[in-house]
Amino acid sequence: MSFLIRPYELKDLNPIAELEKQCFENPWSYSAFCMEYADKNKFYFVAESDEGKVVGYGGFAHVEDEAHIMNIAVRADFRRRGAGFAILSAILKKAEELSIRAVTLEVNDANSAAIALYEKVGFRLAGLRPHYYGWGKPARIYWYYFRDDEKAD
Ligand SMILES: CC(C)(COP(=O)(O)OP(=O)(O)OC[C@H]1O[C@@H](n2cnc3c(N)ncnc32)[C@H](O)[C@@H]1OP(=O)(O)O)[C@@H](O)C(=O)NCCC(=O)NCCS
Repeated sequence: MSFLIRPYELKDLNPIAELEKQCFENPWSYSAFCMEYADKNKFYFVAESDEGKVVGYGGFAHVEDEAHIMNIAVRADFRRRGAGFAILSAILKKAEELSIRAVTLEVNDANSAAIALYEKVGFRLAGLRPHYYGWGKPARIYWYYFRDDEKAD
């Protein structure tokens, strides 16, 4: 299945906030996404289905020469069709255009789907942050490097 991946627009904030509610226990609110939208250092992309519906999104914060992935999610009935991979690829392409050196993210150690996605794309595990998602629920910290000599570190 193919998706149209494009930078988000104001009209996407409502569907993104709805999707966020479906995908996360502690979802970001619509107003949180409005603040993201107003921030020129935040870059988000949406995946649109053939019918023009927003079925996924993801974005990052540009902080000096790094990108911090804020979130990525795909509607449950559209998963395993390449949308997450396409969104993540758009994020990495944009980061590279901005001359970003490295991209990082945290993911729940129990989130095997997201971990498989990040590892497929080439993110490397850097360590665990204990209790990040609550007691006994560590985060995995991942980094992605654009330059081969940093990848080998
Ligand atoms: C993680 C998530 C965004 C993946 O989106 P997706 O559109 O299903 O991912 P894709 O179809 O592009 O999958 C790309 C690759 O990721 C891996 N992957 C994705 N889902 C997987 C799963 N459930 N089990 C194992 N591997 C999985 C596979 O390697 C897959 O490649 P393949 O299909 O060729 O085997 C989606 O599961 C999701 O929205 N989860 C809920 C929100 C969330 O947890 N977000 C991450 C927060 S850190």
